[in-house]
Amino acid sequence: MTPPTPLLELRDISYTYPGTAEETLSHVNFTLTDERIGLIGANGSGKTTFFQLIMGLIRPQSGELFFQGKMVHSEKDFQELRRTIGFLFQNSDDQLFSPTVLEDVAFGPLNMGASPDEAKEISIKTLEKLGLKDFEDRITHKLSGGEKKLTALATILSMQPKLLLLDEPSNNLDPATRERLINILRGLDQAHIIISHDMDFLASTCAQLYTIEHRQLHRCDQKQVHSHEHLHPYGDKPHQHGT
Ligand SMILES: Nc1ncnc2c1ncn2[C@@H]1O[C@H](COP(=O)(O)OP(=O)(O)OP(=O)(O)O)[C@@H](O)[C@H]1O
Ligand SMILES: [Mg+2]
Repeated sequence: MTPPTPLLELRDISYTYPGTAEETLSHVNFTLTDERIGLIGANGSGKTTFFQLIMGLIRPQSGELFFQGKMVHSEKDFQELRRTIGFLFQNSDDQLFSPTVLEDVAFGPLNMGASPDEAKEISIKTLEKLGLKDFEDRITHKLSGGEKKLTALATILSMQPKLLLLDEPSNNLDPATRERLINILRGLDQAHIIISHDMDFLASTCAQLYTIEHRQLHRCDQKQVHSHEHLHPYGDKPHQHGT
């Protein structure tokens, strides 16, 4: 049987930021089919850089990127790819640029050819799903941190991407909202890669874990993603855990 064409493949990708002496990522190889992957790694290890390379926001000095079996190289190729991969930025302020929530969420569908009425309907449904009912006319820059995160996620989900790249999606979310996000992500069909320092969040949303260490991506075969219960002071208060 022929193996399925990978959704995404990086071959021997290396990247050095301009003006820096050392590579941030070095000879990275990675293949994704339809998995749900969690990506962990120390601050500054190159996780966000990895996402930016996939989206073509920065270009590697060497190596090749394939999406759905086709090499992605020119700006036109990357424009096409950006319509198909949903990228949630680590900082929501970098993602939201329209005055109102509806304009931001409708931007993607409109850009992909939906009529204004269709785009509005998709946007309202997506916002409702994320617990942001009646947020359409809210002023984007006045939203709270968590509301911004969810609105940014809505701008992506409204485009029904084939793959989601989520950079620290549970940051700023209260426990109930974080739980809702877990349920939403578990209910989606798409493959995803989630960067997070929140191991329990990853345990609930991902089947496989990767880490970036020494400028390379490694599959964590020895470590298993797992949830656990434990006892500690103030345990009755909602709280989150780091790695
Ligand atoms: N534009 C830039 N110019 C120079 N160096 C940069 C630039 N952007 C990021 N870096 C550096 O590249 C390294 C990787 O950064 P990156 O943002 O990918 O890390 P990260 O793993 O996402 O970290 P965090 O967990 O803190 O978000 C860091 O040392 C960072 O300082
Ligand atoms: Mg980062």
